[in-house]
Amino acid sequence: MNRRNFLRFNALGALSLSAIYAMPHHQDHNHHSMHNMHHIPENQTNMDTSFIDIVENTELLSQDSIPINKDLKALPLLKNTSTKPNTFEATINIKEQDISLAKDKKTRFYTYNGVIPGPKIEVNEGDKVIIKVINHLDEPTTIHWHGLPVPPEQDGNPHDPIAPHTERVYEFTLPEGSAGTYWYHPHPHFITAKQVARGLAGAFVVKAKDSLSHLNEQDWFISDVGLDSEAKIRPNTLSDWLNGREGEFVLINGCFKPKINLTDTKRLRIYNATAARYLRLKIEGVDFIVAGSDGGLMQSPIVQEELFLCPASRAEVILKPNKDINIENAMLQSLYYDRDKMMQDTPNQDPINLATLNIESKSIELPKILREIPKLGIPTASKTITMSEDHSQMHGLSKKSTQEIKEALAQMFLMDNKIYDPNRIDLHSSEGAIEEWKIINKSHMDHPFHIHGTQFEIMRSNLKGKIITPKVRSLHDTINLRPDEEITIKIRQDFRGLRMYHCHILEHESLGMMGNLMVEQA
Ligand code: C2O
Ligand code: CU
Ligand code: CU
Repeated sequence: MNRRNFLRFNALGALSLSAIYAMPHHQDHNHHSMHNMHHIPENQTNMDTSFIDIVENTELLSQDSIPINKDLKALPLLKNTSTKPNTFEATINIKEQDISLAKDKKTRFYTYNGVIPGPKIEVNEGDKVIIKVINHLDEPTTIHWHGLPVPPEQDGNPHDPIAPHTERVYEFTLPEGSAGTYWYHPHPHFITAKQVARGLAGAFVVKAKDSLSHLNEQDWFISDVGLDSEAKIRPNTLSDWLNGREGEFVLINGCFKPKINLTDTKRLRIYNATAARYLRLKIEGVDFIVAGSDGGLMQSPIVQEELFLCPASRAEVILKPNKDINIENAMLQSLYYDRDKMMQDTPNQDPINLATLNIESKSIELPKILREIPKLGIPTASKTITMSEDHSQMHGLSKKSTQEIKEALAQMFLMDNKIYDPNRIDLHSSEGAIEEWKIINKSHMDHPFHIHGTQFEIMRSNLKGKIITPKVRSLHDTINLRPDEEITIKIRQDFRGLRMYHCHILEHESLGMMGNLMVEQA
């Protein structure tokens, strides 16, 4: 085992869970290691924790085992087999596939059509989309069309699983105004995090004739994978469940630390398709002109030195060298972001390198107004949602059996003080009604809030009394909340039926940090 990983896992194993929030009266338990917990007899229980795996001390694949500096591959496109106008028809086979990332070793992934990430779906506003999905896995799955305005019964809810070795057809029409940068991923009950960790995720772009249509496009679909020394997808640790899993290998379009040559001004679509990794993208000497958010173009572009993308969020950007020079061998980095993780006494704060870039400098003028975002109007209803953690679950964890730890995890991450129940309706809304939602993070760590079926507008953030309003109007389906932050959004649901809202740290989602919204006839 390489020394760094050994130290890392030892440090983790020796750290008592009761020290998560440095509670001094629990420090006498610090000598308990995760190993000891496995020897305590497990209790009988009715709670379903079978989906929770916890394995410490997995030997990791060393970072130099995967070749770097290969040219970035474009995402393969999902082929449209329809000959009818305004119709996109295709088949997705969900199956296990061996893929070589590491030299001389194969990794068995769960894949959409055999590739990592899944094929890119590219359609136009107004298109009718018909996708047959064949589930060759030995477990149920669904495909959720993250961010897209599709009817609930077509949106891959956990309530509508595609049973193992069966198939279904998803069918929806994408309305005018829906152009934007989306993605698709599984959403089965309990095992969404597992299936994404094994590779299931893909890009979904809806195009329209807009103020940037003249530019060539490139996707940076950022995911991460955790691999053991045999290049197998590694199991989760306790820290992965608590903080969300961050795979040690960050991939762009499935490539590890690729080389990216930009010879023209491109419309970049950047996706954070990781389960829990926060991205603070930075390129020395280059600014980001941010032109789009989750739900398409923003009202106006803004220039930033860094691009922050919480898990599940996306952006459209144009790179602008801040002097008029060609940029050679610049690093695309993700800077350290402190999201107040648990069990992190001395986090590694080094930036990580994602890619090497060559950029030919071209001057570019973007229109001041990229598009007019329709105003939602005056809200007629309001809701308050809280995300929190049940800290009583953490007390004395170091004395608990593995089964008790799993039960604690399965009760720890709360949406409105509750654990997700697929059969309980938590909130009601009226179809087409404009609502104001206040989302509150009452916990000690960041949680990205996501809701299905629509795009919302952020009105304001209140972080311990400091009020921030967005500089530019833009549409989102996912928004990060810092500890104690309150964010107010305006939102409208245009379809009747059941929608989920949840934390998009996927381990938290799978542990039940989720609720059901029923949208009813007005
Ligand atoms: Cu990205 Cu409930 O989903
Ligand atoms: Cu979603
Ligand atoms: Cu969370």
